[in-house]
Amino acid sequence: MITATETKLPRINMPLPGPKAKEVIEYDKKFISPSLFREYPLVAERGYGAIIEDPDGNTFLDFAAGIAVCSTGHCHPHVVQEIQKQAAELIHIAGTDFYHRHMPQLAERLVATMPKSHHYKVFFGNSGTEAVEGAIKLARYATRRDKLIAFYGCFHGRTLGSLSLTASKSTQRKYFGTLLGGVEHIPFPYAYRCALGHTNETCGGEIIELLEEQILKRLFAPEEIAAIIVEPIQGEGGFIPAPAFFLRELQRICNKHGIMLILDEVQSGMGRTGKMWAYDHAGITPDIVLTAKGLGSGMPISAFIARESVMQWKPGSHGTTYGGNPVCIASAMATLDLIQGGLMVNARKMGEYIFGKINDWPSRFKIVGDVRGKGLMIGVEIVRDQRTKEKAPDLRDKVIVGAFHRGLLTLESGENSIRISPPLIIDEEQADCAIRIMEESIREAEKSL
Ligand SMILES: Cc1ncc(COP(=O)(O)O)c(C=O)c1O
Repeated sequence: MITATETKLPRINMPLPGPKAKEVIEYDKKFISPSLFREYPLVAERGYGAIIEDPDGNTFLDFAAGIAVCSTGHCHPHVVQEIQKQAAELIHIAGTDFYHRHMPQLAERLVATMPKSHHYKVFFGNSGTEAVEGAIKLARYATRRDKLIAFYGCFHGRTLGSLSLTASKSTQRKYFGTLLGGVEHIPFPYAYRCALGHTNETCGGEIIELLEEQILKRLFAPEEIAAIIVEPIQGEGGFIPAPAFFLRELQRICNKHGIMLILDEVQSGMGRTGKMWAYDHAGITPDIVLTAKGLGSGMPISAFIARESVMQWKPGSHGTTYGGNPVCIASAMATLDLIQGGLMVNARKMGEYIFGKINDWPSRFKIVGDVRGKGLMIGVEIVRDQRTKEKAPDLRDKVIVGAFHRGLLTLESGENSIRISPPLIIDEEQADCAIRIMEESIREAEKSL
């Protein structure tokens, strides 16, 4: 329930950043690593629902959700209550050494979301990249093979193993030296830019052919490949969904050659697309699924969920000090209560509502090339010219910054797209407000064409 001092909609009272926000920004500059990339000067002081309040009392409608993390909104009372209760009982015990019932409890609930044809087991970590690292190790261990295949545009994290897979922006890899060997990247199906003119449902057949006829015949023998890792919807790469047939084809190839199919659902999972996992839209049965972000509503927790027949490694082969921390698990359990108790349905409903209102943006705005996505994972691609599809990162930035100054938080994605990834709790009034602000910001950016 919203209290008297709280609001559902944005309210900007001054030019941004305000004086107190400026102080924090200067303070931060003095002590914090400059590698962090801040798109605009938002300083967060308090959060509730889909609202972020800054130290100067401005309120923002948050359609970024801390990079799709705050699935249940900010500080949802149920999540806060469960965190507080658990923090008073047991904060840490190191699940790598000892037992506590919270770990199997959450694992059981995650396994219940997986296809029923197999039993699955779970390993908990603290971040998305850790889930990726663990999955690489598990795939290598289970297959006794070491080669990996990933996709251009993919983002799997920034530690050295996951960075070897990440192929999103060269800055993310530059100067970090030699990464994992035996990693090959292939194109990701991108219907809007498909040279063969395919649609969202049909794009990617030639990539499957490339994989089977070139990569598997000329580069890596299939029996050397441990895993193919794919985001069912590329997140950092531009909110680009893989067609269902494409995921099914990857599964067919993996099954044929005993290759592990790893689905990175760190950004797309936990109900965001209107189903628990984005791969559910394709009806496939993955070997390993990765989750993080939306799982803990902001508490650091990740997991990889693998078929029992795959997760057969020996005690000591993989572990972590904090993974499966009881407080993070309490937050994840509360998050699941809410997602399964209605938020996933709301994500589907609100996704359809927003799509219904912005699908025609390419015909209404000269700089909008494409609107795509599933549920509340919506990408808007900004171009200089709809005919040539010339990418316009400068105009994209103008839209995002313009929206910020009007009280709406969004994030960039890919070279020239905007990601719309609000908490799954939003209602029509908030969606309408965000759409109005986006439209004003797009109109303003168009003036600089
Ligand atoms: C699909 C995907 N995988 C992995 C990661 C890495 O997660 P983290 O930043 O928690 O390490 C991200 C982060 O954006 C992601 O989107």
